[in-house]
Amino acid sequence: MKDVKGKLVLVTGASSGIGSATAKLLVANGAEVILQARGIDKLNSVATDIKAEGGLTYVYATDLTDIAATESTAKKIIDEVGLPDIIINCAGAGEWLSIFQTSNEEFHQMMDAPHFATIHTIKAFLNHFVKRDSGHIININSAASYFIYPGAIGYLSSRWTLRVFTEALQEELRTTNIHVSMLVAGKVDSPYFTNNPISAERIPKISTMLMKTLTVEQVAKTILKIINTRKKIVIIPWEMSLSVILNKYFPGIFRTLNRMTGYGGITDEIAEIKRKT
Ligand SMILES: NC(=O)c1ccc[n+]([C@@H]2O[C@H](COP(=O)([O-])OP(=O)(O)OC[C@H]3O[C@@H](n4cnc5c(N)ncnc54)[C@H](OP(=O)(O)O)[C@@H]3O)[C@@H](O)[C@H]2O)c1
Repeated sequence: MKDVKGKLVLVTGASSGIGSATAKLLVANGAEVILQARGIDKLNSVATDIKAEGGLTYVYATDLTDIAATESTAKKIIDEVGLPDIIINCAGAGEWLSIFQTSNEEFHQMMDAPHFATIHTIKAFLNHFVKRDSGHIININSAASYFIYPGAIGYLSSRWTLRVFTEALQEELRTTNIHVSMLVAGKVDSPYFTNNPISAERIPKISTMLMKTLTVEQVAKTILKIINTRKKIVIIPWEMSLSVILNKYFPGIFRTLNRMTGYGGITDEIAEIKRKT
């Protein structure tokens, strides 16, 4: 078992939800944590909570969709704090909308974070990890990365792409001492759903009926376990893990159930387009 005590951990998306809960748990277990997101006030508020508990933390406000800013901040982090032992990629956003409701610009934004924000962050540190021949990268992903349902096309695209990127990275770094893990979570009670109420409404009911909503603390504990076990893919809760396996063999059944219990507005949207065009 590895120990996070004394380890330097970079957590992106650390100002809210899964990222902030993870940062706090890591510090409680003896890690030093670098907090990264765009909003400085929320980052400082998380840092204040951590320092009040006697923890060591550093704040870097960065828009991780900006390649130059991500790279220059990474250099600053290395110079001022050191090279992280572990990177946890939690920065992400994007509302659940249909093809008709999503502009081209919004499609790009949804790919920007988490998908490209994760890639920019990893690339800013990876060569240093390779030179040191150690490091652990943990990408946080959604169960949406395994399923298809209506009304969330940009969100699904970015999570499926992030999953493929993560699995491909695991393959490419197979011969190194750099570990790559992916945590896939079902619904988590975080500010994301307060900020994106349409997304909450569109979760297929079959999913909310069969599995409980996770807390950010439960997700943080699982991330701590992944640091210890270095497992490549962890899916929570266990009912979601089972659904992912069944979906692999019976994709048609899951697609039908998700369609029947998910967003039903597509037919109206298509009718509206026909009427207007
Ligand atoms: N909530 C769920 O049910 C759930 C389930 C599974 C997976 N996830 C995934 O986990 C990730 C985090 O979700 P959450 O629920 O913790 O959401 P959240 O509470 O909304 O937190 C998102 C974090 O990402 C940061 N962020 C967004 N865009 C950024 C950017 N361009 N650059 C840097 N930081 C950025 C936000 O801070 P700023 O806005 O200040 O930058 C915030 O700290 C998302 O990718 C989500 O898909 C969520």
